[in-house]
Amino acid sequence: MPYQDRFPTLTVVDHPLVKHKLHLLRSTDTPRKLFRELIEEITTLMTYEATRSLPVEEVEVTTPLEAMVGHRLEGRAPVVVPVLRAGLGMVSGVLNVLPGARIGHVGIKRDHDSLQPIEYYFNVPPQGGSLRFIVVDPMLATGGSASATIRGLKARGAGDIRLMCIVAAPEGVEAVSRNHPDVPIFVGVMDRQLNDVGYILPGLGDAGDRLYGTE
Ligand code: PRP
Ligand code: URA
Repeated sequence: MPYQDRFPTLTVVDHPLVKHKLHLLRSTDTPRKLFRELIEEITTLMTYEATRSLPVEEVEVTTPLEAMVGHRLEGRAPVVVPVLRAGLGMVSGVLNVLPGARIGHVGIKRDHDSLQPIEYYFNVPPQGGSLRFIVVDPMLATGGSASATIRGLKARGAGDIRLMCIVAAPEGVEAVSRNHPDVPIFVGVMDRQLNDVGYILPGLGDAGDRLYGTE
């Protein structure tokens, strides 16, 4: 069954440029500088799709020739919420197209043995009305970290949340869509499966380690 039928909240951003950059991102031959650049570039491309459903409102604008009615984003720009550490690598990619966005930080790491998410930091802008959130993390493996982040945002009053991950395992999409059926999920690619220690196959390895040189 195609993934889109199995997971109604899922969008796979299978644009040719995303595909091309993904093959470079995965390769063990890709050095850190290029890896960082690719994470940013893929994120920018994915942000077009993840923001497609943002509402716009009409606004009068005067060109040098005449007045017209244009459009602007309704309300405030979405808040970008990177899941530390690896999500930080995606922030600049979102800011390329939403330069004024505010940024919330969520520190969550997986326990190496249980694979359960451990939260160690949560600092998002105060709600102040109808804010929208885009949670970013390159890897969606078991879905524990993303589910916990979304749960934390909801506990603080957030209602409009999108999740954007570059490489996903079916197990992670399954978990997030079961825990949060109201949250649209955008991924660059659906990989085959998790291995027995929770890594995505074929994946790209440990995204945080490759971004920050801690491997
Ligand atoms: C990685 C990744 C995700 C999480 C995905 O972070 O960046 O946050 O694992 O796995 P999950 O879907 O099974 O929760 P990690 O826990 O390695 O933290 P780190 O970036 O701080 O090393
Ligand atoms: N986190 C990563 O960085 N890579 C994986 O494959 C799974 C979780």
